Amino acid sequence: MKIGILGAGNIGAAAARLFVAAGHDVAVSNSRGPETLRELIRELGPQAHAMTIADAARFGEVVLLAVPWRSPEALPQPELLRNKIVIDAMNPYRPDGGFYDLEGSTSSEEVLKRVPGARLVKAFNTIYYVHLASRGRNDLPLEDRHTIYVAGDDAEAKKVVAHLIEEIGFAPVDTGSLREGGRMQEPNSPIYNKTYTAREARQFLLDLEAKRA
Ligand SMILES: NC(=O)c1ccc[n+]([C@@H]2O[C@H](COP(=O)([O-])OP(=O)(O)OC[C@H]3O[C@@H](n4cnc5c(N)ncnc54)[C@H](OP(=O)(O)O)[C@@H]3O)[C@@H](O)[C@H]2O)c1
Repeated sequence: MKIGILGAGNIGAAAARLFVAAGHDVAVSNSRGPETLRELIRELGPQAHAMTIADAARFGEVVLLAVPWRSPEALPQPELLRNKIVIDAMNPYRPDGGFYDLEGSTSSEEVLKRVPGARLVKAFNTIYYVHLASRGRNDLPLEDRHTIYVAGDDAEAKKVVAHLIEEIGFAPVDTGSLREGGRMQEPNSPIYNKTYTAREARQFLLDLEAKRA
């Protein structure tokens, strides 16, 4: 699969390494331009390409958003993402480390307003990049792997993202719609930055639901 990665920092570079190791072709991009990504490309090998943000968006059948949420200008023209499977790994951090008050909305719903028509899946946002880089275990059964949560309204898109997550050694756990599942995945939620296995995560979500009912 061709995966465009917007942002080549902690999360973008870690994801690029994992996707390449799983046999995918990646395009990485950042704010400073492709020439600043030479070292990363050398490390990743021939399956990786350095591009501008717009070209990486064009390149990807799946596109990962791994830039700061507070910088909408980092995203490409919405037309470049229309009808594409887009993974939103971003969290609504302010520059001071606090979170924006979204007044009842969620960060991925706000992202969808910026890129209407994208097949948006919220994933990779709850996992610390060091865990993403180090805790993938293809040798374990799915239920015993570290969880990466997925939320979204497009079932097919979610399935594709879930498969990618499995290929890189993690276990996808579906939290629900972009709104309700997405809210569950927001920073400071009970599952944010927790190191649950899929078995533990599913049980935790069931318990949470039972408590709410
Ligand atoms: N760090 C984590 O553990 C973690 C975990 C889950 C989710 N996230 C989320 O993932 C996103 C990235 O986090 P990170 O820790 O990877 O950040 P990071 O290391 O600071 O990397 C940010 C990347 O975004 C690029 N970027 C910034 N502003 C841009 C702009 N205006 N146009 C184009 N590219 C721009 C940067 O490019 P330059 O370097 O060229 O400026 C850099 O490649 C954030 O939304 C964060 O909330 C982070």
